[in-house]
Amino acid sequence: MSRALLEVHGISVVFGGLRAVDDVSFEIHDREILGLLGPNGAGKTTCFNAISGVYPPTLGDILLDGARTNGAPPHGMARLGVGRTFQIVRPFSGLSVRENVIVALGGPRYRGNLLRSLTSWRKKGIADEAGAILDRVGLLDVADRTSGQLPIGSLRRVEIARALALSPRLLLLDESFSGLRSTEIAQIEELIRSIREDGVSVLLIEHNMKVAMGLSDRVVVLDHGRKLAEGKPSEVASNQAVIEAYLGRGERGNVA
Ligand SMILES: Nc1ncnc2c1ncn2[C@@H]1O[C@H](COP(=O)(O)OP(=O)(O)OP(=O)(O)O)[C@@H](O)[C@H]1O
Ligand SMILES: [Mg+2]
Repeated sequence: MSRALLEVHGISVVFGGLRAVDDVSFEIHDREILGLLGPNGAGKTTCFNAISGVYPPTLGDILLDGARTNGAPPHGMARLGVGRTFQIVRPFSGLSVRENVIVALGGPRYRGNLLRSLTSWRKKGIADEAGAILDRVGLLDVADRTSGQLPIGSLRRVEIARALALSPRLLLLDESFSGLRSTEIAQIEELIRSIREDGVSVLLIEHNMKVAMGLSDRVVVLDHGRKLAEGKPSEVASNQAVIEAYLGRGERGNVA
């Protein structure tokens, strides 16, 4: 197995009296697609937030390429090559799709200064870069539409486009298939596979078990903040503790 790009070592995230993530460890290797699964409230998004620098883990360490990153802010993690999408999509809804990507492209260069990002694009050729990314995610035909007018399927692509603008080595996808129709699901699956072919590692949270198990090389299952299982999709799908965690609570996901 190739070396680990990301190492999560015994992280816990505590909110007041709640241990949302409890002593969780896993690794992601180069060009690997790792599924992070678990019932609602299991701690998946909280793991993403710790890895992407929204807040540091209360305990434990996160290493990227062997270097400890705990405490680095989100823009610092982005510069280190960690891109992410959000479970609740959050485009700049007054801006066009193209402008959303331009802002993401300019963000690291202009330290998050929205106005400088937007006004500098002509001379920097950023519009061409944005066009290439929009073509890649299948949004070129709606590039000049206002983001706030778009359906959820397109907004999920805008999220991915903005994350790709950071040229990530590691892409974190939080429920990128949620709310999509089956044809859109197949297109996003193909996009994620092509992103991996380009050498990017992908950590994805997904409730649709067919999609998650089909895309992932390995999966990690969380429940009540703790790691319940880890392994190949076929092994984990037949794991009794995993089946009980899902079936016991009538969750959205279904491992069967
Ligand atoms: N900022 C916060 N402050 C307090 N509690 C939080 C915070 N963020 C998450 N939690 C709690 O931590 C637990 C884990 O939440 P998290 O969002 O990580 O779950 P999840 O696995 O992503 O669930 P879902 O599948 O529903 O998105 C939940 O009990 C949630 O209410
Ligand atoms: Mg979540």
